[in-house]
Amino acid sequence: MERIDKIIAAAKNISRSDARALIKKGLVSVDGETVKAVDRKFDEVNSDIECNSEKISYSKFVYIMMNKPKGVISASDGRGDKTVIDILPDDMKRKNLFPAGRLDKDTTGFMLITDDGDFAHRILSPKSHIPKTYIAVLDKPFDNEIISAFNKGIMLKNDTCMPALLEAVDDTFTVGRVTISQGMYHQIKRMFGKFGIEVLELKRIKMGALELDSSLGDGECRYLIADEIDKIKQQI
Ligand code: URA
Repeated sequence: MERIDKIIAAAKNISRSDARALIKKGLVSVDGETVKAVDRKFDEVNSDIECNSEKISYSKFVYIMMNKPKGVISASDGRGDKTVIDILPDDMKRKNLFPAGRLDKDTTGFMLITDDGDFAHRILSPKSHIPKTYIAVLDKPFDNEIISAFNKGIMLKNDTCMPALLEAVDDTFTVGRVTISQGMYHQIKRMFGKFGIEVLELKRIKMGALELDSSLGDGECRYLIADEIDKIKQQI
C-alpha cells in the first residue's frame, strides 16, 4: 500500500506537491472512483489508477538521476559526511535508496540512485562493463601517445584496465572526454597519474546510453522515465 500522492508523483515524474494539486483538482481516480484525499493509501500494483484519464503504470522501484555536487559522498551512510541520499529532496526520499555506482567526493555529475537492490548490485559488480563517460580537466596537456595507451589498456598496480577512449574536448588538450567500462578505485585519476598528469576536475556525463540531463543544476535530480530505465537495464 502506498500514498496516492506518492504513486502519482513517481509514475508521472513530478513533485509530490504537483501530484497533490492534480489529486485535489479531481483528476485522479482509483478503480473508477475519484480520489481527493492526497494521503489515502492504495495497492499500487493491483489497483486501476488513472490520472487525467490516462492509466498509470506504477513501478515498484524508483530510479533517480542526480547531478552530484562536489563534497558529498556516494554512499548511503557518510559517517559524518553528507551523502547523495541526504541531499535528495524530501519528496523523493524513501526507504532503501542507495547509489548505484561510485563517484569520488570531489567528482561531480551523473549519479544513479535507486531502491532496486538487484539492479544496483549488477551495476556495481566488477562484471558490469557499462561504459561511463567523464569530462576531465587536467593540469597539463595529453598527447597522442597517451590516447593510444588509454586505448590499449593502462596497467594499474597488477591490473590492466580495459581499453578506454580518450578524446580532446578542445585544441588545448587539457580537457579530455574519457570513456571507461570499469569502475576501479580512482580509475581515471590514476590513469592520468601514470603520465604525471593531475585531474583537477572530473564530471561524469554519461552512463551507458543515458546522458546527464543538462537541465539539472548542482545537486538536482529527477526520476528516470520508463524508457530510460529500459535502456540502462539492457546494458547491465
Ligand atoms: N575515476 C576517478 O578517478 N574518480 C571517479 O570519481 C570516477 C572515475
